[in-house]
Amino acid sequence: MKEPVTFILASNNPKKKKEMGDILTALGIRVISMAQAGIDVQPEEAGETFEENARIKAEAVCRAGGAPALADDSGLSVEALGGAPGVYSARYCPGTDWDRLQFLLKNMEDIPEGKRGAKFVSAVACAWPDGRTAVWRGECSGVLLREPRGQGGFGYDPAFYLPEYGQTFAEMSQQLKNRISHRARAMERCAAGLAQMMNEKK
Ligand code: IMP
Repeated sequence: MKEPVTFILASNNPKKKKEMGDILTALGIRVISMAQAGIDVQPEEAGETFEENARIKAEAVCRAGGAPALADDSGLSVEALGGAPGVYSARYCPGTDWDRLQFLLKNMEDIPEGKRGAKFVSAVACAWPDGRTAVWRGECSGVLLREPRGQGGFGYDPAFYLPEYGQTFAEMSQQLKNRISHRARAMERCAAGLAQMMNEKK
């Protein structure tokens, strides 16, 4: 049987990298880090959509490494804020992830229960040295609490509550988050898409 293709994983965020690595390994996709590939690129995320930014990152890493690359662009889209912070989730305000979480909760102060819906979105893009690219999207819906809850996860996780599980992303186990998250859903589609592409080549 042919060896599976190895992708360079285009992420510098250690927590996201770990989550992506765990999900991809479970799906049978082999990845190496940029450090393992001997490259260090940080392309500007100039796109207006998650898909555009994921593609920009995957293409830049693929060019630098001369090998297939895989990138995700993700963020939180809040209904009452017209989809903000969206693609600007990592840059919503200066400071740390915790500062951005507090800023979000402040902006949501006057929003009543029942109007606090939000979704995490992840776009996963693959780029190949021959110029081909492909992108898949995953979403996970929940509501925003008024106070952070839980110690796990990262970013906006402590405010993101999933009514069907009675927990925030920061309260649930990493295994559960990795099964149901926006990133997991996008990666499942990516794995299915890659499998189909491999079959078509045969
Ligand atoms: P990216 O590295 O440009 O994709 O930035 C994604 C940003 O969106 C992160 O810095 C977080 O603020 C937020 N984000 C994305 N996925 C998650 C998640 O699973 N939990 C919490 N925050 C997330």
